[in-house]
Amino acid sequence: MPALVLLGAQWGDEGKGKATDLLGGSVDYVVRYQGGNNAGHTVVVGDQKYALHLLPSGILSPGCTPVIGNGVVVDPSVLLSELSGLNERGVDTSKLLISGNAHIITPYNVTVDKVTERFLGKRKIGTTGRGIGPTYADKINRVGIRVQDLYDESILTQKVEAALDVKNQILTKLYNRRAIAVEQVVEELLGYAEKIEPYVADTVLVLNEALEQDKVVLFEGGQGTLLDIDHGTYPFVTSSNPTAGGACTGAGVGPTKISRVIGILKAYTTRVGAGPFPTELFDEDGEALRRIGGERGVTTGRDRRCGWFDAVIARYATRVNGLTDFFLTKLDVLTGWEQIPVCVAYEIDGRRVEELPYSQTDFHHAKPVYEMLPGWSEDISKAKTFADLPKNAQAYVKALEEMSGAPISAIGVGPGRDETIQINSFL
Ligand code: GDP
Ligand code: IMO
Ligand code: MG
Repeated sequence: MPALVLLGAQWGDEGKGKATDLLGGSVDYVVRYQGGNNAGHTVVVGDQKYALHLLPSGILSPGCTPVIGNGVVVDPSVLLSELSGLNERGVDTSKLLISGNAHIITPYNVTVDKVTERFLGKRKIGTTGRGIGPTYADKINRVGIRVQDLYDESILTQKVEAALDVKNQILTKLYNRRAIAVEQVVEELLGYAEKIEPYVADTVLVLNEALEQDKVVLFEGGQGTLLDIDHGTYPFVTSSNPTAGGACTGAGVGPTKISRVIGILKAYTTRVGAGPFPTELFDEDGEALRRIGGERGVTTGRDRRCGWFDAVIARYATRVNGLTDFFLTKLDVLTGWEQIPVCVAYEIDGRRVEELPYSQTDFHHAKPVYEMLPGWSEDISKAKTFADLPKNAQAYVKALEEMSGAPISAIGVGPGRDETIQINSFL
């Protein structure tokens, strides 16, 4: 039973941080398995609000061991500043474990991310500019720097040389930028080595031993299903696999160990950055969702694009992740609409399409087919059980469940830990 995956079912920012934190008190390990500090996970504990980027949300639960798996890309300067920020607020971070095989986001990867986006002009992806794509590209190209390389100066220098040989040609000749000096990068990276060393561990061994001892391990996805490099709206995606399979490769745990996959699903839809978004709203409703839902990026501060709930996407997330449950978040944000449109299918070039089209062209042409559901006006933020919800809110949840293909086992009615209606236990 012990391994659970918790991941975003849409384009990220579904409320994964809150959901992970909620479970953090009952699990032994919380593991990030992909992505890096492109994530922005908000956790509200009492009157304290935390914004986590690289660290697993389990770091806020004292009994829990937070783990950064091999599939994550680690910016050492961000890691250290996030740790010291939490320490200053009295959070004990000493249990953190970091895989020696995780790749390092180097300063030149951040530079390449930014200049590439600038070069793409209006074709840009709208990345977070944190060096995520270039670092994964280096990993796949076998010129990446890993956490363990910080502990062998000679290997580190050779690897940085190999990476910069090509990059400096591109930076100077194509992008008209100054070359980056090998020594400067090596010196900066070595400066982090000692501070990070206490956390470095064989996380694959640790996690598999924990599972053998029936400990509970929670894998916390960054980003979301439609930002997945394989299963998302390519090329408008991130450069890793937030989908459930990513937990296996990104942490070194076999699929037979995973018993539950929970999709975090917002009661409407948001997206940051470029790319298709069939239910996007450009009117007052979109503005209202953004305002009421506080839809502003935690990492980049950009306004999120907002739209109605899209059941085609939810069904797709159920399929590619093998979801066993949904955690529906931000239902409270929809309070006050007389009627709430829900996208049940797409119309593509005159045809009705029930499932997400695999063709990028078709998806770009997809127009939402809406069904109108009756809204509610009562404040639901104090609701503790499903029965406390107004009838129309109950019907909205039931309709979404029916369309999405997995049971809705929890409902968020506010950002706080206790602003949650638990229908089925996750453990
Ligand atoms: P993540 O990236 O998936 O962790 O989500 P973000 O933290 O980027 O964005 C989710 C936002 O919604 C945060 O500000 C959360 O505090 C907030 N939130 C989470 N669940 C709920 C909920 O049920 N209701 C409301 N009103 N806010 C929520
Ligand atoms: P959390 O974990 C929403 C988006 C970026 C951009 C694309 C590629 O908070 O849900 P990248 O920097 O990863 O190469 O950018 O992915 N993106 C996110 N959108 N939430 C996130 O994380 C995101 N992380 C990346 O906006 O469109
Ligand atoms: Mg976020």
